[in-house]
This record gives sequence, C-alpha cells and structure tokens, in this order.
Amino acid sequence: MDSVPTASLNPGPVCSESVSEEQLKSPMRQLIVADLHYSLRQWDWVVRNAGRFDAVIIAGDLLDITSPVDREAQIIVILKYLARIARSTPRLLVTSGNHDLDEPTPSGERTAGWLDQARASGVLVDGDSCMSGDCLISLCPWWESDASRQAIERQLARDASRPRRCWIWIHHAPPLGSRTSWNGHKDAGDAALTEWIHQFRPDLVLSGHIHQAPFQEGGSWVDRVDSTWVFNAGYYIAAEPPFMVLDLENRRVEWISAAGNEQIHLDQPPPRNTPTPP
Ligand SMILES: [Fe+2]
Repeated sequence: MDSVPTASLNPGPVCSESVSEEQLKSPMRQLIVADLHYSLRQWDWVVRNAGRFDAVIIAGDLLDITSPVDREAQIIVILKYLARIARSTPRLLVTSGNHDLDEPTPSGERTAGWLDQARASGVLVDGDSCMSGDCLISLCPWWESDASRQAIERQLARDASRPRRCWIWIHHAPPLGSRTSWNGHKDAGDAALTEWIHQFRPDLVLSGHIHQAPFQEGGSWVDRVDSTWVFNAGYYIAAEPPFMVLDLENRRVEWISAAGNEQIHLDQPPPRNTPTPP
C-alpha cells in the first residue's frame, strides 16, 4: 500500500490568504462538499468561499432529520442559502441525500421535491446533467425504490450517449466495495451504484453519506472502483466542513479536513493510508 503524498494545492482553509491569485484564476476548479446537515456555520463557510470556485457541488444531506428545527423551516432557510451561493459562483450543483426527503410519491417513496424550487435560482438539481468544459456531470437523486433506481439507470443510460471527454456523477451514497463506504464496522455502500460504475464507467463519482469513512482504519476519502475514482469528503461537527477541490485542468483532487490535507493525481494510483481522526 502506497502512502499518499501530503503536499497540498492549498495547505490552509480556502478562505485564508494562502490561496494564490493564480489558483483563484485557474479554470475548472470545483468545490465539493456533502453532508452539511443543516449546520448553518458550515453553510456560512460555503457562502464565504463559493466565489473562489468555478462551481460548487453539494452531494446530499443538506437538511438534518434529527434537528430540532422543523423540516419546512429548514427548507426555507436552505433555499435562501442556495440562492446566495448561486449568486457567488458560476454554477451550483446539488443532489439529495437521505435527510432531504419531503414529498411522498405515488409509490409511497419520498423524494426531495423541494429542491425543484432551487431551480429558480439557477441551481442544477436531481436528475439534471450539464457540461463543465468538456466534462459531463450527472446529478443523481437519493433513491429508495425500484422505480427511482430504474429512473437513475435511465438517466445514466441517456447521459452515456452524450459526447464528452470525462464523466462525473454526483450520488450521495458511495459505492459498495470501496474504502469510501467503510463505516468502521462494515461496508455500507450502495450496490446499485457499484453495478452502474461497472456498466457505464464514469471517470469520477462524488459522494458523502458515510460520515466516518475518511477517518476510520480501512476507510478513505478516495478510492477506485474499476478505473473510476470515487470520493467521500466525510463529515464532522465544526465551523468548516471537510471538503475537496477538484482541479480538472491539472487533474488533481485535494481533500482538506481537520485530520489533514491530502491530494491525489487522477493519473496515479490511489492512496491507501488513513488519516488520524479529528
Ligand atoms: Fe449525512
């Protein structure tokens, strides 16, 4: 198992002065977070930093079902945050997680129907896809039924036919069979996602959901399934969330967290070490 080099693209918090003007002007830099779980301190941090990136990606669990704040109130607040972030960055992409579900479907499943309201602010949400440069990005919703799983499969099959140089998926749960889904006791990943990766072979999958994975022995913020890179920034309670910076131009991904900063190059093997928990 190789150790990951810890040299950093950006060794401090993004809002620090250590970010150079050159880095800020570099095209195709994308901020990736997930599992903000209605932490307004972390949402404020995203608002403060969104303008430094060409895109912001939020990979599910915007709300928190354990919060004492009523879900409808959370939705009103988070829609305002999404509108603020969308005004600060050229593109905001958001997918649902298991904490974000509000509307029942005819089949009895719940979906994050409230996210549709964010479209009025220019936010791309569940079911959308877009081009970022010559990279196609597919935004996958949280799914709980055969019907919605099949809908994602149709979405991916449709997007598979689109011309692109690279293909990125945003999907809240990480894939089964990767270190990004190791919760310290078991692999809690999504088996359907793993099958889709085998079938469609995306270049990158951006996830969250398994909060402990980056900080557990046997887990990681990054791994590979086949030739696909899979990522999970993790979650903890703090003023700043753990996050990733995707730099497509230089083919690097950096992970910045309270447990340390690491980076990988997309043309090199994945790291196999695990940082010390914060
Ligand atoms: Fe979560």
